[in-house]
Amino acid sequence: MGEGIKLPVLNGLGRTNRIDNWWSQPVAMGTGLTAALIYTFWRLFFYDADISYKLHGSTVMSPIFSPNVLEWDLFGLSAWNHPEWVNAAILVLWIPFGFRGTCYYMRRVYYRTFFASPTACWVDEPEINKAIGYQGERRMFLFNNLHRYFLYAAMVIILIKWWDVTHTMHFHSAAHEGYGLSIGTFVMGFEAFLLTMYVTSCHALRHLAGGMLDRWTSRISRVRGVLFGKISIANRSHGFWFWTSLTFVFLGDIWVLLVAEGRVNDMVLLVI
Ligand code: FES
Repeated sequence: MGEGIKLPVLNGLGRTNRIDNWWSQPVAMGTGLTAALIYTFWRLFFYDADISYKLHGSTVMSPIFSPNVLEWDLFGLSAWNHPEWVNAAILVLWIPFGFRGTCYYMRRVYYRTFFASPTACWVDEPEINKAIGYQGERRMFLFNNLHRYFLYAAMVIILIKWWDVTHTMHFHSAAHEGYGLSIGTFVMGFEAFLLTMYVTSCHALRHLAGGMLDRWTSRISRVRGVLFGKISIANRSHGFWFWTSLTFVFLGDIWVLLVAEGRVNDMVLLVI
């Protein structure tokens, strides 16, 4: 009774009976994450100039360096005589890093791409993985349990991102006076939208909304049930929001860099 069925898995790293391009997804994901890490490292420690630009008095801030806490009067940060190597991203990036690094989808990605555990369904993993076995969220992976707390911090960051978008919309120069739109507004607005979708499709947020309830019968729990349903819909595409929002952080930064260096021009599209 209850005898396990032995799957026809071939033994040896990467060996499989699969005939599709099973390796393409882990390779693409591994390449994407490595490129993101290298670019961030370069921007933080080797080239932290041109983090924003002005367009007729409006400010467009790079998503990597937002929020620019070093300009905040709060906590006296703007008056802080900080070491030269300190920049806004170094002070703030631990929040998006912590949030993304502990994300349930991200765990799947790095387990597959960097640990080959498993590399893909029905594809054999390295012998060392079999020897160690799955240890759960222990030792350094204990950190993953902080995901919900990073979620709270990420929600604050999202609000600041939208606040940044409003700064791209306020023009006050001789040529333009009032509120409007520039190309930078669309770039930053789209980045803030994708990030909002990534956060609102989070598994931990879904659980917070209504995951621990058995029934949604009282008035409050009915509202939570509706929220749970909506988040569940967004949650189905959590991987999509993860990658698109991550990509746009870098595209947004490259846009700011190019405009600040005068290689590309932003322009005011509308003022009212
Ligand atoms: Fe991915 Fe929360 S599970 S952000």
